Amino acid sequence: MRGWLYIAWVFLFFMLAGLLSSRRNREVVGSSAARSSWFRSPSKWLPFALYGDSNVLDEHPIPRLMADAEKKFKTLLAKQSKTLPEAVAEYKRRYGRDPPLGFDDWWKFATENDVKLVDEFDAIVEDLAPFWSLSGAEFRWRAYEAGQLPSIDLVRIEDGLAIDLKVEKKFKDTEKGHRALGFRRLLEKFQDKLPDMDFPINAKAEGRVLVPWEHQTYPNLTIEELSVENFTPDWKGTGSVWHAFRRTCAPDTQARRLFSSYRNPNAEKPRSLLGPQNTVDEVFNFAESVDVDLDYCHYPWAHFTQGHFFSDWRTVPQLYPVLSPARAKGFADIRIPSHYYHGQNSRYTYGWDPTNEDPKEIDDMEVPWDDKVEVIFWRGATTGGGSTPPGFSPFYQRHRFLRMAHENAKANYTIIHESPLNPGTYISTTVPAMELNREIMDVAFVSAVGSYPGGEEALRREHRFAQSVPLGEHWSYKYLIDLDGMSYSGRFMAFMASDSAVIKSTVYKEYFTDWIQPWLHFIPLSSSYSEIYNIHAYFSGPSSATLRIANMSHVPEVKNIHANGDQQLKKIARAGKQWKKTIGRTVDMEAYVYRLCLEYARLWADDRDAWSFVL
Ligand SMILES: *[C@@H]1O[C@H](CO)[C@@H](O)[C@H](O)[C@H]1NC(C)=O
Ligand SMILES: *[C@@H]1O[C@H](CO)[C@@H](O)[C@H](O)[C@H]1NC(C)=O
Ligand SMILES: *[C@@H]1O[C@H](CO)[C@@H](O)[C@H](O)[C@H]1NC(C)=O
Repeated sequence: MRGWLYIAWVFLFFMLAGLLSSRRNREVVGSSAARSSWFRSPSKWLPFALYGDSNVLDEHPIPRLMADAEKKFKTLLAKQSKTLPEAVAEYKRRYGRDPPLGFDDWWKFATENDVKLVDEFDAIVEDLAPFWSLSGAEFRWRAYEAGQLPSIDLVRIEDGLAIDLKVEKKFKDTEKGHRALGFRRLLEKFQDKLPDMDFPINAKAEGRVLVPWEHQTYPNLTIEELSVENFTPDWKGTGSVWHAFRRTCAPDTQARRLFSSYRNPNAEKPRSLLGPQNTVDEVFNFAESVDVDLDYCHYPWAHFTQGHFFSDWRTVPQLYPVLSPARAKGFADIRIPSHYYHGQNSRYTYGWDPTNEDPKEIDDMEVPWDDKVEVIFWRGATTGGGSTPPGFSPFYQRHRFLRMAHENAKANYTIIHESPLNPGTYISTTVPAMELNREIMDVAFVSAVGSYPGGEEALRREHRFAQSVPLGEHWSYKYLIDLDGMSYSGRFMAFMASDSAVIKSTVYKEYFTDWIQPWLHFIPLSSSYSEIYNIHAYFSGPSSATLRIANMSHVPEVKNIHANGDQQLKKIARAGKQWKKTIGRTVDMEAYVYRLCLEYARLWADDRDAWSFVL
């Protein structure tokens, strides 16, 4: 164990040394060259070309992002099918085949329940696509086999009723059952319309299925990689998620080269994740969406920043149907809504109401907008990944964020903020992170789980710890940041339901990813997080330290800056809440699962043509 840690640290030291040395040339405001960031595809980012040679910027990118987002979402809503024949035609246009049998009943369910985005189910088709090359018999066999694996529960539909199938396993899992129960709850309203079939439900939050690239197509798809009998739940020193993931990459990618998958191939043009960002283009690039498309096959080095590559759970190297709450790029799990998003739970439900079946519309601890504190709030556990191999937890999502936001952080950030003297223009001021963090961040761990180099003492020294708070405490803050843990964040829906604005950073696709619009319903944040200071400066205006350093503390016009940005932030909070009320409802999750079941039933069938719906 100690040996491992040592190797890990030595190796990270060299990696960082390479990174930092190339960061010495700091850019100043006015340099216009947009350095392509390795960390995300440039198309997702605004060109950094807004600067002329002066230090003044006369357009801030955020209003444009918000306006574009609103337009895009309105267009999406307006173009949805209005009738069954339209929906069938749209289905055929998109996927080149007939919809599955039962589509008419599904349509009835969707329209009766006022489902808004009736055509947007690409996620299901995408997740199920690889299974089309298996025959019905092979598909059924794999579903059965998957159910024999540790931490996968089988839900069976039998004579129109969903039941748990009891499978005796050597490995006893404490998490067993909750996700399967959640899935059965979503089936209740339409289970009587479904044929007999089995669903393997992932009992864990983490993705499970990673199929090696060479085995992703037929007939290699059928090569048996796995002995269900001898499958051990954890890695037992014989591999890791990252090793399994690398095998899913095409042979000519960086990740498949053993050495380069461990070093940073872009050390000359870094987007630093592990330290502060100082150049203007680094801190003033706003994500247009969350980082779900980051391709670790091409940027293998970036895997150090994501805990899911260090999970202790052994992944399944064979195309088995496994229904999971989230899907990271490269994984072959089939997405379903998380059980935390429906039903009620004091830790995950907004408006939790123990006396009623449904949660309350307004949470007891909700706070009027103007009384909410203008800081970014986060509380949570040190979850973020496992310990395979150990020693990397400092670079997991939550740890990175907490150190960046620490009140003693040693960095300087370039803050671009509206000039109080010349409204509508933006100037830059370089502010120590320490001061910004003390003013605008309230983020802390509340419990320590998992290992940390140097032990819990080091963990507590380098990260802020605070008392845990009830979920409702969050509503006292205007900004809620939502970060991935072991996998997706189970609190997202509660945050959306609240009157606060949500900032979300994630590398996972979930069932709703195509249904929600970044910059309209929430604020997307890159996996490096560093633009967060400029997000805050736009919506809440320059902080007092920023104004002090800019020598503008005493300018009376300062108070005018705040109002407009605050209205915009409130608009995002409102739109998010409205989204949860109209598109993020439990019945929308049911409509998703219903349609998934129909597609799944067709794959289950021997004669898939007969299992299609024709008007
Ligand atoms: C199929 O698998 C074999 C053995 O692993 C491999 O040599 C071959 O390249 C694979 N074919 C494809 C198309 O990947
Ligand atoms: C931040 O700026 C201050 C003042 O210019 C400087 O002394 C300090 O070294 C800078 N810190 C970092 C980490 O660059
Ligand atoms: C603020 O004022 C101080 C003292 O007058 C000066 O040294 C500094 O350059 C000024 N800073 C800015 C950003 O104008």
